[in-house]
Amino acid sequence: MSLSRRDLLALAARASAVGLVARAFPWTPLSAQGLKPTVAPGKEKLLVRSLRPPDYESPVALLDSWITPVEHFYVRSHLPVPPGLDGATWTLSIEGEVNMPISLTLDELRKLPSTTVTTTLECAGNGRAFFDPPVAGIQWSKGAVGTARWTGVRMADVLKRAGVKSTARFVYMNGADRPLGTMPDFVRQLPIDKAMHADTVIAFDMNGQPITPLHGFPLRAIVPGWEGAYSVKWLTNLRVADRESDSFWVATAYRYPVRRVAPGATVDPKDMGPLTGLVVKSLITRPLDAVTVAPGKVDVAGFAWAGEADISRVDISTDYGASWQQARLTGEQAKYAWRRFEYTFEASRPESYLILSRATDSQGRAQPMSPPWNPSGYLWNAPDSVRIEVKA
Ligand code: MTE
Repeated sequence: MSLSRRDLLALAARASAVGLVARAFPWTPLSAQGLKPTVAPGKEKLLVRSLRPPDYESPVALLDSWITPVEHFYVRSHLPVPPGLDGATWTLSIEGEVNMPISLTLDELRKLPSTTVTTTLECAGNGRAFFDPPVAGIQWSKGAVGTARWTGVRMADVLKRAGVKSTARFVYMNGADRPLGTMPDFVRQLPIDKAMHADTVIAFDMNGQPITPLHGFPLRAIVPGWEGAYSVKWLTNLRVADRESDSFWVATAYRYPVRRVAPGATVDPKDMGPLTGLVVKSLITRPLDAVTVAPGKVDVAGFAWAGEADISRVDISTDYGASWQQARLTGEQAKYAWRRFEYTFEASRPESYLILSRATDSQGRAQPMSPPWNPSGYLWNAPDSVRIEVKA
């Protein structure tokens, strides 16, 4: 029996309920235990990709503001939210290649000089659903992305307090989520330069309020411009190291082929390197896909982002990519945050329009028409598209 693309997508979607890693490290879903998990309070408007662990995607309609409200912000967790999170007893320990291992309470951290960074956080797997052939894992569509203001202390300040030794090359970040069954502990590693960068933050507030449990209460790393998995939630430990971590989440997951491979190819692990910065990308938030409008002016708007780079232009096509016009870049601006774009066109003929957006960044990178296929379906960044019907 041969499987159609639709069959494969359905299979992949089913697999997504437990996720790629859960397939490698099986555990018993709550439903199989006769329990009924529900979506976390406050996140009812999001698309549920998995209930436990909580993986929720933002519908594009809820991403039409520069700052994404917490209740509209996507959630990505490989493991369940740790139970009994308590800010009063929370400590962050710093150890390893340091002169003096230290431990800081949340109160002590809140008394240190603070900083706020506005950053677009995006899961590396955002857009995985669009790869062909399909790739196993959560079938994120467009909304595993959002922008928030994160307030906390610089990771560098905390590391300096412990006195980083000259042998330091990496910082391993560990959160309070615990391995489940055979699923490994979520540990991620930062090269020392990115850990010491003035914009890398240990955050306690999101959009001016204490971070909520789903987003990492009471402390999380925020690594601006890099794919979301670096921003470790429920942060309890920083270990400064002189060598690479052998954690599953560093040595095996979140890796990408070092050279282009054919779609569907099997890639030797030695030909995979770590993901770091986000790529250039855009999202049309207006009009919404599949709407019907009357003939006349159509206002197109959305956001474009490029990790550590800035957005230099966004081009729009309203004729299936035959021609492109430059959109206006408007609204607020911050180094790692997405940039608003706007474009108005006259849709006078009653027909079907395909609107495309294509961003270019300050490093001259433009969104590719066909992003390179890779085994885990990371970094999808083809031009965004919405189809609208114009009817008199
Ligand atoms: N931190 C811990 N401790 N455990 C996790 O599973 N998921 C990571 C990251 N931090 C994760 C984590 C991933 S893959 C992403 S994309 C972001 O958190 C998502 O952050 P959010 O849930 O606040 O949107």
